[in-house]
Amino acid sequence: MKILLTGATGFVGSHILDRLRAEGVPTLLLLRRSSDPRFIAEHLPHVEIRYGSLDDLPALREALVGATHVLHCAGATKAPSAEGLFAVNQIGTRNLVQAVNESATPVQRLVHLSSLAAGRFGTRAAPAREDDPSEPLSEYGRSKRAGERVVLTGCRCEFVVLRPCAVYGPRDAEFLRLFKAARAHVMPVFGGGRQELSLVFAPDLAATAVRALTGAGIAGRILNVACAEVVTAGELAATIARLLGGRMLRLSLPAGVLKLVCALAGAGARLTGKATVLAHGKYRELTAPGWVCDTTRLQSAMGPLCPTRLADGLPATLAWYRQHGWL
Ligand SMILES: NC(=O)c1ccc[n+]([C@@H]2O[C@H](COP(=O)([O-])OP(=O)(O)OC[C@H]3O[C@@H](n4cnc5c(N)ncnc54)[C@H](OP(=O)(O)O)[C@@H]3O)[C@@H](O)[C@H]2O)c1
Repeated sequence: MKILLTGATGFVGSHILDRLRAEGVPTLLLLRRSSDPRFIAEHLPHVEIRYGSLDDLPALREALVGATHVLHCAGATKAPSAEGLFAVNQIGTRNLVQAVNESATPVQRLVHLSSLAAGRFGTRAAPAREDDPSEPLSEYGRSKRAGERVVLTGCRCEFVVLRPCAVYGPRDAEFLRLFKAARAHVMPVFGGGRQELSLVFAPDLAATAVRALTGAGIAGRILNVACAEVVTAGELAATIARLLGGRMLRLSLPAGVLKLVCALAGAGARLTGKATVLAHGKYRELTAPGWVCDTTRLQSAMGPLCPTRLADGLPATLAWYRQHGWL
């Protein structure tokens, strides 16, 4: 068994590499020459590196030489334009799938990291299920759905599509914003903080992704990935505030203000070419009633997974931020 891992330098991919290395799985990495390897430096002497990008089909063919399994974690979560999201999440995935289909070393399974955003929003009362009609609310979600379709319709080897909910943990720059707001004693909430959320701790997602490389009874399926715990955005903010131990000014933002902030972020991204997660329809995701998913399919096939609750995951995340001078 030899895994080609894409996206190893990113937040989620670096946790997947930690897990592969902890399990002693021989691993090849697809890295761009511009990639910043700071999260994975300790592993570099122990893995093979194949340089290339998802937009470079010949490099992908080279990268696959000797790989028996592929874990495709590379993706764009933000870009200056919607086209930038599709270029990586749809077209990049299409290139990889083509290279996998043509690989001289037969690939036994491709695990594709998609996102709950590719499906539909869900609440405690009506959690999103994998077979529900896909109704992505943002360009990111649409680009991830387009990537899923490439795999579902074009991949000729066994595949598994994972749809993680929001991921948090060490090395994550997005949740860091919540911690920074809490440190500044301000917690912006919108919609009364009632949005219901499934969350997953990054090392748990990594363990699930690695298990999915060989797990029985999941080939050809889409699987939601989340911890069973569901929180509201307000409860999440309050928990982080308690961890930081200070008094908190809860700043309730009207929907109109959030819409304006997202519109300005989108315009700014287009003008400056700087990527932001707030652009390209993110407003609709942020104001959905919830992003709760049902994980029965995953748990039935693979047993209990993603056990880390916020009470353990958030302090571990805070400790990492502090230890590495992020907070
Ligand atoms: N974070 C979440 O909450 C979350 C939730 C659900 C699903 N996901 C999915 O999980 C995956 C990883 O997300 P993340 O949060 O870890 O993102 P991230 O930190 O931005 O990492 C993205 C990774 O993809 C690589 N990449 C981007 N474009 C590439 C290209 N054209 N060719 C080769 N590699 C490329 C990046 O490499 P460089 O270092 O070279 O830029 C980086 O390693 C994505 O597919 C995302 O959609 C994330």
